[in-house]
Amino acid sequence: MKKLLIINGSPRKKGCDARVCDEISALASKYGYESETVWAYDLQIGGCRACMACKSTQKCVQKDGMNEILDRIRTSDMLIFATPVYFNGETGPMKTFLDRMYPLMRMNPDRTVESFIGNVKKAAIVVCCGAPDGNMKYASIVTKFINVLKMFNVTDVSGAVIPSGNPDTVLDSSFCKGCLSQIEFQLQME
Ligand SMILES: Cc1cc2nc3c(=O)[nH]c(=O)nc-3n(C[C@H](O)[C@H](O)[C@H](O)COP(=O)(O)O)c2cc1C
Repeated sequence: MKKLLIINGSPRKKGCDARVCDEISALASKYGYESETVWAYDLQIGGCRACMACKSTQKCVQKDGMNEILDRIRTSDMLIFATPVYFNGETGPMKTFLDRMYPLMRMNPDRTVESFIGNVKKAAIVVCCGAPDGNMKYASIVTKFINVLKMFNVTDVSGAVIPSGNPDTVLDSSFCKGCLSQIEFQLQME
């Protein structure tokens, strides 16, 4: 079975991002994926210390469980990064998570990038926010994740900002519907 790993950067287990991700999991199972979720807020991970040890080992020296998560990433076929907007950016734990993915890439002296992201071939970004015009205001957050994923040589990436702020109605949003149909398209493709 193919594997979808959802990294949810919201503290709210029943929030907007969670609702959208539940829909993504349901779609994924339709296309032969099993999905699991990592909640960034539940991890006890510290910030990247920039020690660079991972550049030769592809592992982190910090013994806080992140190496096990990196293994889960490497064995996934598709990743979903879901985060609320907190003051114009992703949440703090999501940013820490991204930084701790550093062992999965290496910039060579000639500026070429090597990826150690394993099976991952595609990804999607889900950004939920409260501002009604958030799709315009926060498009740069999606772009930032797309650029990070490019550093891992993952280029089949979709992404959307979903303005709503209300978990009970977020699925009705046209932005949410558009986001889900893009992800469904990615899931269908080999
Ligand atoms: C600390 C904090 C900062 C926030 N900052 C913004 C913001 O800058 N722009 C915005 O549109 N919404 C902001 N929000 C609202 C959330 O992005 C919004 O409620 C989102 O849907 C929450 O996602 P969740 O339900 O998945 O947790 C903020 C919420 C909190 C708690």
